[in-house]
Amino acid sequence: MADGPMSRYRARVAEGGLVADPAQALAVEKLQLLHQRLDGYTPARPRRVARGLLGFGRKAAKPDAPLAGLYLYGGVGRGKSMLMDMFFEGAPVRRKRRVHFHGFMQEIQAGIHAARMSGVDDPLPPVCDEIAEGALLLCFDEFQVEDIADAMILGRLFQGLFQRGLVVVATSNRHPDELYRNGLNRQSFLPFIALLKERLDIHALEGPTDHRRRALGARDVYVTPLGPEADAAIEAAWSALTQGAREAPLDLRVQGRSVRLRRVAAGAARADFAELCGAALGPADYLAIANAVSALVLENVPCFDRRNATEAKRFVTLVDALYEARVRLICSAAAPPDLLHGEGDVAFAFARTASRLIEMQGEGWPPAS
Ligand SMILES: Nc1ncnc2c1ncn2[C@@H]1O[C@H](COP(=O)(O)OP(=O)(O)OP(=O)(O)O)[C@@H](O)[C@H]1O
Ligand SMILES: [Mg+2]
Repeated sequence: MADGPMSRYRARVAEGGLVADPAQALAVEKLQLLHQRLDGYTPARPRRVARGLLGFGRKAAKPDAPLAGLYLYGGVGRGKSMLMDMFFEGAPVRRKRRVHFHGFMQEIQAGIHAARMSGVDDPLPPVCDEIAEGALLLCFDEFQVEDIADAMILGRLFQGLFQRGLVVVATSNRHPDELYRNGLNRQSFLPFIALLKERLDIHALEGPTDHRRRALGARDVYVTPLGPEADAAIEAAWSALTQGAREAPLDLRVQGRSVRLRRVAAGAARADFAELCGAALGPADYLAIANAVSALVLENVPCFDRRNATEAKRFVTLVDALYEARVRLICSAAAPPDLLHGEGDVAFAFARTASRLIEMQGEGWPPAS
């Protein structure tokens, strides 16, 4: 099994590209087992669900249903996404997809909408068929549930996917029991949690090392003033954060619109101040951004005055969202936090932002949740 995740992982540790991490080694063993089981895997024939049977209240799967994958959860920077990518690249399946969970749900909601428009009574089976045609292995990064529309369909969606033989690997910051915590109508969500626990191996990746933090080290995460030196420092921080991971854009669905992060890699996003605060984005957009990444590299934060008061307000909202979601913020700015804002109405509100910016530079940020 030359290109299994185990040999890849060991090779990268041996050549010094990765720091040895026993908790990761355990997770790699799980991934290696799944790799072996995937070799030559052909999915069971789909068991058609009888028309009109909502099914989900009943037994979700046969008692002897095989494990359908792995759910890796744990704190930020533990290496979940990296290990999943390593597994994914070598996975011996032709039809495989790696998706950001949020983007996937966006696709599902669009598919449901299209199926409804075409007059189908129950839109989920055709949507599941389409997903199953495209992939036998689905790898989800950043599995989390915030949206009630998603929460209410996930049970039947995953039941349909598992019935079609799909194998699932997911990374998340939360144990399944903690998903959609305090969500509206959570009672209806509980069968989905039960299904995840029944079908997936739930594994905690809880090593002591936040590798993102370790890679950033004593590096300044708030670089000022702006200029070539700041640009170089930001470039170096981005390299340390992403370690050469492939960059791709990420489209987030927010209240029916789409918000694009142009550069996303290794759980981190990179953007210019003008992109995020110069455009007409609001709290929901910033929340979606903060929930989608673990670190944000934000370049060229200006000083604020009356002329850019709107941008200042957006920046306050952005920092609040990042703070609440415990995102690591790395930025280049025209001045230290306390001197970014001198005058006007926003200055008062900005005191909290400055204080948060300072806290977010500290050793203890982000705090363990
Ligand atoms: N053993 C390691 N040695 C060196 N770098 C590592 C190691 N493990 C992970 N990293 C690096 O640390 C960074 C964070 O890893 P990764 O994105 O996989 O974490 P994560 O657990 O998915 O975090 P999050 O919960 O925030 O998504 C990445 O740049 C990754 O390449
Ligand atoms: Mg991750």
